[in-house]
Amino acid sequence: MPPKTIEREKECRLTPREIYHFLDQYVIGQDRVKRAISIAAYNHFKRVSYNREMERKGFQLPLLKKSNIMMVGPTGCGKTHIARNLAQVLEVPFAVADATEYTEAGYYGKDVEVMIGELLYSAEMDVSVAERGIVFVDEIDKIARRGSAMKDGSGGRDIRGEGVQQALLKLLEGSKVFVPYNITQHWNKHDFVQMDTTNILFICAGTFTDIYRGGKTRPVGFKRGDAGKVVKPMEDRVTTEDLLKYGMLAEFMGRMPVIVELEELTDQEMVRIVTDPPDSILKEYKQLLALDKIELDFSESALKEIVSEAKLRKLGARGLRTIFEEVMQDLMFEAPEMSGKQVMIDAGDVRRRVGRD
Ligand SMILES: Nc1ncnc2c1ncn2[C@@H]1O[C@H](COP(=O)(O)OP(=O)(O)OP(=O)(O)O)[C@@H](O)[C@H]1O
Ligand SMILES: [Mg+2]
Repeated sequence: MPPKTIEREKECRLTPREIYHFLDQYVIGQDRVKRAISIAAYNHFKRVSYNREMERKGFQLPLLKKSNIMMVGPTGCGKTHIARNLAQVLEVPFAVADATEYTEAGYYGKDVEVMIGELLYSAEMDVSVAERGIVFVDEIDKIARRGSAMKDGSGGRDIRGEGVQQALLKLLEGSKVFVPYNITQHWNKHDFVQMDTTNILFICAGTFTDIYRGGKTRPVGFKRGDAGKVVKPMEDRVTTEDLLKYGMLAEFMGRMPVIVELEELTDQEMVRIVTDPPDSILKEYKQLLALDKIELDFSESALKEIVSEAKLRKLGARGLRTIFEEVMQDLMFEAPEMSGKQVMIDAGDVRRRVGRD
């Protein structure tokens, strides 16, 4: 099937506030990031439609330049979660790529062009629509060049990551690339289509867990005091320089003008993650048990207990679901026999079920 080339002018009419509002329902906390992403997405649409209009009128450069984003933050704090939700709200094609799956051309693994191929796929093979999409590249820190200066124990230099960064540069800066348009199968040389990446927005994310500064590691993410206020001073924020030292290429960072740092989630926010979003895990289980005519609830202290267990496991919000499921296991087993009952889980139940009592 040849790719479609008919121009479909479907501009996004969402304002930054509307994008933010959508994200806000599903992503707890991380206010600065939600704002930055909403603005970037909105500007992206504006830029693309302006550039296209100028081109139609026959004007050449200067066109508005895109501003790719780099998200940095601890594990399980919502980086991938934000990207997924952004994909829900946006009306442009959106592809999520995992940087670790890619290799330099010629090596075993995917070529970076496959990312654009996935974008094309999500644009239903419409080249012109795909050319203004957004690509989210996750785990970007895993393709950092690990020099001998890094005290990572291995001491080795990983040139593989550097090669992938080089390959990505070409996409970031905007060039014409040959994209396989059948990403689901093996392709041959006739299955390529040329695409221009100039207007594709890239959002990258990584944990960068061991950034060194002044001879010691420093944690990424804002530390917050008890009142939930950000206490991390300005000079402690992650800078381009930190990321260069970490092993990102200067040319790469040069194309990532916006760096946003995610916050470490507070206990309160972790509780809200369990209870608040429309698709929260608590709501999910309540619904599930309601089908067996059981009314499920968790006490405030039970929720706090789940959060403190998640903190112990150091998995961020990712641990919440695992723990929740551990806690629910017995009940799920007995559920069909408990029809018509009310069940209240308290802190003691949580401690017992995760094996802490
Ligand atoms: N701020 C948040 N609001 C709501 N849910 C969240 C938030 N952060 C994390 N979660 C939940 O935790 C899970 C794991 O988070 P996510 O995958 O976004 O982590 P991450 O920041 O990408 O971590 P990693 O660096 O390990 O990939 C999500 O699927 C989501 O359910
Ligand atoms: Mg992630």
